[in-house]
Amino acid sequence: MSSPSNQLDRHSLPAHVAIIMDGNGRWAQNRGMIRLLGHKSGVKTVKKIVTAASELGIKVLTLYAFSTENWKRPEQEVSGLMSLLKSYLENELSTMLDNNIKLRCMGRKKQLPEEVQHVLNSSINKTANNTGLVLNLALSYGGRSEITRAARNLAKMCAAGTLHPDEITEDLLEENLYSAGLPDPDLLIRTGGEYRLSNFLLWQASYAELYITETNWPDFTQEDFHRALTIYQERQRRFGKTGDQLKK
Ligand code: IPE
Ligand code: IPE
Ligand code: MG
Repeated sequence: MSSPSNQLDRHSLPAHVAIIMDGNGRWAQNRGMIRLLGHKSGVKTVKKIVTAASELGIKVLTLYAFSTENWKRPEQEVSGLMSLLKSYLENELSTMLDNNIKLRCMGRKKQLPEEVQHVLNSSINKTANNTGLVLNLALSYGGRSEITRAARNLAKMCAAGTLHPDEITEDLLEENLYSAGLPDPDLLIRTGGEYRLSNFLLWQASYAELYITETNWPDFTQEDFHRALTIYQERQRRFGKTGDQLKK
């Protein structure tokens, strides 16, 4: 029997893959380790999956790294996650430059510690002219907060008289999301086995194909990633139409 990666059609890949990287804490706790070691191990998976996506020629990879709700975790875990984020960004800049990866982020950047903001901005600037994979990190990100921010921007334009409420369209709202300019995710993967969105890409994921695996993020491999892509390729995306309409 051939492995799923053999069946992967490299010519019909999703343009945008988004991942809810969940299960780090449980992975560690199952091994009698502290949760932070699960996050540390999760960083290794991030490196592997970014490389895999870049090699396949996927255009956009959005990774949910920290939610607006994750600030409610114990202070020690939050600060541990922030320092892992900082060292990840510092260590990976050369790989991003070597592999033509362009870094972006979405979320309330100003809430991040200043030293994280600094290295994040610096890496975003240094990779700005790269034309390969767009690596979009969701940091202090929440879908509701993103949509509220877009609504506030549009309301300000209306109040200033530069926009009429009747001119507000889906496209215009989209231009005011953090994801402006990116295609919607075609495939949304969640590791760790929970069947929920946890405030991720609420607007953008309206027609994303969902793939949920029980595998915890630190155990997720390149082969698992290829399997998710293969299963995505077997789906029929109808976008409201009938299956017969698509065959024509
Ligand atoms: C995901 O793993 C990483 C973040 C949310 C930052 P978790 O830390 O949520 O792991 P579980 O769900 O507790 O196992
Ligand atoms: C979602 O995971 C957020 C990230 C992966 C960054 P959570 O572990 O925070 O989600 P819930 O709380 O179980 O819904
Ligand atoms: Mg979790």
